[in-house]
Amino acid sequence: MSFDLAAYLADRRRAVDEALERYLPAKDAPPATIHEAMRYSVFAGGKRLRPILAIGGAEAVGGTMERVLPTACALELIHTYSLIHDDLPAMDDDDYRRGRLTNHKVFGEAIAILAGDALLTLAFGLLAEHASIEVVREVAWAAGTFGMIGGQVVDIQSEGKSVDAETLEYIHRHKTAALIRASLVSGAMLAGASPPALTAIREAGTHLGLAFQIVDDILDVEGSLEELGKTAGKDRRKKKATYPEHFGLETSRLKAKALIEDAKAALLSLGSPAEPIRALADFIFQRKS
Ligand code: IPE
Ligand code: IPE
Ligand code: MG
Ligand code: MG
Ligand code: MG
Repeated sequence: MSFDLAAYLADRRRAVDEALERYLPAKDAPPATIHEAMRYSVFAGGKRLRPILAIGGAEAVGGTMERVLPTACALELIHTYSLIHDDLPAMDDDDYRRGRLTNHKVFGEAIAILAGDALLTLAFGLLAEHASIEVVREVAWAAGTFGMIGGQVVDIQSEGKSVDAETLEYIHRHKTAALIRASLVSGAMLAGASPPALTAIREAGTHLGLAFQIVDDILDVEGSLEELGKTAGKDRRKKKATYPEHFGLETSRLKAKALIEDAKAALLSLGSPAEPIRALADFIFQRKS
C-alpha cells in the first residue's frame, strides 16, 4: 500500500495545532491585544509544513513526534512571525494572509511588529526549555542574518532591479530554504540522528527549501487569492526577483522538480522511515496553495 500523505498531514497537523494552543498565551491574558494578535495569525490556518518537517525529520531516524513537538511549534512561531513582518507596508505591503486580512490591517502596524517580535521571543523560550543547545544554535543561525533575515534583506534590496541568477538563488536559499532545512535537521538532531543520517537530511532540506520557494514564486503567477489565501500577482507588481521572472515558468518548474528529485535521492539511504519526507517532497512540488 502506498503512503497516505493526506492522513499523515491531517494527523500531524492536529497534534501541532493542539500543542500550539497550549504554548500560546491565552487570548485574554493581559495585555490582551498582543496575545490576540499573536493568536490571530498563528491560528489563521497555514500548512504547518515546517513543524511537520521537524516531526518527519525525527521519525526518519527512529524518533517520536512527542519529543520534537515543542521544537516543531517553535519553528511554526518563527515562520508566522516572518509572515507578519513580511506583509508589513514597509516590506511586501500585503493585505491578505492565510485567507484573512493581514495582522497589521486588523491590529495596526505597531501591534503587528510587536506580535512578530513576541512570537520570535516565545519560540526561543520554547527551544530553551525543550530542545538541545545544538538545536537552538541551528535555528538561531537559520532565522538570523546569515539565514532568513539575510535573504529578506537582499529580497527587499533587489526590488525593481534585474539581479543575476546567483543573487536570486542567494535570496531564495536564505529567506526560505534556511528555515525549512533547519526544521528537518532540528527534528533529526533531537531524535539522535547519526552523523551520516544528519548529512543526508541536511542535504535534502537544502534542496526542498529552494524548491519550496520556487514553487511559491510560480504560484504567485498562476494561483488566485481564493486558492492561496494571499494576493496573487504581487511579485510582478512589486518587481520582485523571482524564478519565473528570471527563467520563465517552464524552466522554473523543471528546476523545482529536479531539486525535489535530488532531495528524494539524498534520503534513499534512510530507507522506509523517511517515506513521509519523500511524500512531503512531492507535495511541495504539486501543491496549489
Ligand atoms: C509562505 O510560506 C512564505 C514562504 C516562505 C514562501 P507557506 O506557504 O508555508 O505559508 P503557510 O504557513 O502555509 O501559510
Ligand atoms: C517570504 O517570501 C519569505 C519569508 C516570509 C521569510 P515571500 O514574500 O515570497 O512570501 P509570500 O509570497 O508573501 O508568502
Ligand atoms: Mg517577501
Ligand atoms: Mg511576501
Ligand atoms: Mg511569495
